[in-house]
Amino acid sequence: MRNTIHTLSYYGVFCVKVTLSIIKADVGGWVGHSACHPQLLGRARALLAEAKGAGLLLDFHVASCGDDLELILSHARGCEAREVHELAFNVFRECTGVAKGLKLYAAGQDLLSDAFTGALHGLGPGFAEIEFEERKSEPVLVVMADKAAAGAWNLPLFKAFADAFNTPGLVIDPALHDGFIFDVLDARDNRVFSIPTPQGIYDLLALIGATGDYLVKAVRRKDGEVVAVTTVQQLNKLAGRYVGKDDPACIIRCQSGLPAVGEVLEAFAFPHLVAGWMRGSHAGPLMPCAVADATPSRFDGPPRAVCLGFQLADGLLGEPRDMFADKAFDSVRAECLRACEYMRRHGPFEPHRLSPEHMEYTTLPQVLKKFAKTA
Ligand code: F6R
Ligand code: MG
Ligand code: MG
Repeated sequence: MRNTIHTLSYYGVFCVKVTLSIIKADVGGWVGHSACHPQLLGRARALLAEAKGAGLLLDFHVASCGDDLELILSHARGCEAREVHELAFNVFRECTGVAKGLKLYAAGQDLLSDAFTGALHGLGPGFAEIEFEERKSEPVLVVMADKAAAGAWNLPLFKAFADAFNTPGLVIDPALHDGFIFDVLDARDNRVFSIPTPQGIYDLLALIGATGDYLVKAVRRKDGEVVAVTTVQQLNKLAGRYVGKDDPACIIRCQSGLPAVGEVLEAFAFPHLVAGWMRGSHAGPLMPCAVADATPSRFDGPPRAVCLGFQLADGLLGEPRDMFADKAFDSVRAECLRACEYMRRHGPFEPHRLSPEHMEYTTLPQVLKKFAKTA
């Protein structure tokens, strides 16, 4: 078992090596797919408190975004640690039991297996993890979405880490001026391309503009330090059938040579269109909102993003701040709702309805079969 909280940094001082994990799953909706029942949150908190007491975790925070149960964990066990993944799996399994008892909707939806097999890969829950030496001060944002596909972070991560019109630090702070490296997953055949910016901006955009096929998986500083990670698991590909959109999450480190907290938040000030919304089959604007408002309603949406800010202290998460609750995002939400009206008026027509290969539900084959008989 690894327990390397303290390592010697190259400055010759002891500092904390910490792993942050965001691990999430929809194990039952309250009501329909609109929210997470308080009893699920309560059960998850109790189980994680036990694990913290037993020394497995340094700290934890349980949150929800829509019908997704979000476990934010800090520990010293590194990425993909078996015991941390098993803990999260057991929390989701226990919460599935609670959800079934309450007859919540689609209880156990994202747990594709009853048995833990060594890591969460292929089991349904989304996860993203990052290990680093805690800096003198370490501000971290955890952004979580509901009713959205995994490509939802491509645009805001590009803006935060590569667009000088969003992040002036790229131009005026010598510590950011060299740019960042984007690790892009080709979701069709599981290859990762590492693209340096600003040099590779056009190559990067050529790929990540196709949000259904290419996903920003991580962003690194030019010295290799990982500064942002995203969940890239695509549920439907894992299950081979529709089991809900991926509802991704990401972790972003900020300040002191990285984009400022406000520069990262600014990347969410445009309610860009994402794939998801009703039946995972519609394009709709992503609404940044407070955790308490992350309860998709109209047309099972619109897609939501919440952002919790943590100021780490020796691996402890402390109290999070609800970053999108700020009034400064009111106008973004108003613009988002106007975009909803506009998109909804298309009804079942593209581009509101996704193209056939990106829709999660489709009757197209049956319809074609029916006409094949009469043609
Ligand atoms: C989208 C989502 C919902 C459902 C919709 C129909 O990710 O979860 O929009 O697709 O409510 O759900 P079912 O087919 O379970 O009735
Ligand atoms: Mg659901
Ligand atoms: Mg969801």
